[in-house]
Amino acid sequence: MTQIRSNKSWEIPESLAVDEADFWNRRTFLKGAGLMGTTLLLCNHQLSAATAGFPSQRNPKYNLIEAEKITEEKYVTGYNNFYEFSLDKEDVKDKAKHWKTEPWSIEISGMVQKPSTLDVNELINEFGIEQRVYRFRCVEAWSMIVPWDGFPLRKLIEKAQPLSSAKYIKFISFDDPEEAPGMKNRSYPWPYTEGLRMDEALHELTLMVTGVFGKPLPNQNGAPVRLMVPWKYGFKSIKSIQKIEFTDQQPKSLWNELAPQEYGFYANVNPEVDHPRWSQAKERPIGSWFFQKIPTQPFNGYAEEVSSLYKGMDLKKNY
Ligand code: MTE
Repeated sequence: MTQIRSNKSWEIPESLAVDEADFWNRRTFLKGAGLMGTTLLLCNHQLSAATAGFPSQRNPKYNLIEAEKITEEKYVTGYNNFYEFSLDKEDVKDKAKHWKTEPWSIEISGMVQKPSTLDVNELINEFGIEQRVYRFRCVEAWSMIVPWDGFPLRKLIEKAQPLSSAKYIKFISFDDPEEAPGMKNRSYPWPYTEGLRMDEALHELTLMVTGVFGKPLPNQNGAPVRLMVPWKYGFKSIKSIQKIEFTDQQPKSLWNELAPQEYGFYANVNPEVDHPRWSQAKERPIGSWFFQKIPTQPFNGYAEEVSSLYKGMDLKKNY
């Protein structure tokens, strides 16, 4: 099966995919050829909850085309920001390893037709999942390229049926200081909270992530479900989401509450707007040789897709 190539700035050739992704691509090919379709369908019913939705298929529309490579899995799953567990990126994995994230449900409330509580595995079974290779840029000026698995947030919003008066979505992470030792540090306004404007939330790039590298999301990456908004700094991509609230008020986020002059509501990746304490013009791809830096792109390389959302807005003010 040949792939139709388009010239979008954020696509990457299949040849840059890591081994595991290639493996799944071959399965996609076979499935496309009609050889595995039935087997996959049967297998789906036998999957345990922990593997809900897998194997996923790479969506060819979301493959980046630049001379960068997908970040090695050991960095994606071993260098994490998850303050509920630890402030030390390399310690998060260990601190979170015994945390139980199943069963897990998301409470939907606020300006919706019908408030509800939805089981994550049921959502995965209902919507299915796909793999997308996204650029990921942390506000701390490092970056990764990651094959996330998940479903568009839009599907969940359509299911929730928000009222037309709802203009924003607020996301709230779990709250469990007994399990997550970092939450005992009460100088942070726990639980971790984030928000999006409704049109940002409905954008096709906005993903609810349930896996990475074709496997269920490990605890340290925000199991069992987290957000991924690839044109925004990583802190917007809230992990381990337990509540979603539809509202007409711009939500407060944890970082915005702690340091509003440093972390705005929008947090769009912007090389021209520096963090008050460091430049955002360049970034360090994790795993790169000798800490080599590369230029940061406006909207993290997704300007073609998303810049229209911010037409007429002063992006220096609305950082
Ligand atoms: N979500 C929660 N609940 N807690 C956090 O500390 N950190 C954010 C974001 N989501 C964070 C969070 C930040 S600062 C970043 S850069 C990304 O998660 C890191 O995601 P990763 O560990 O999968 O790379």
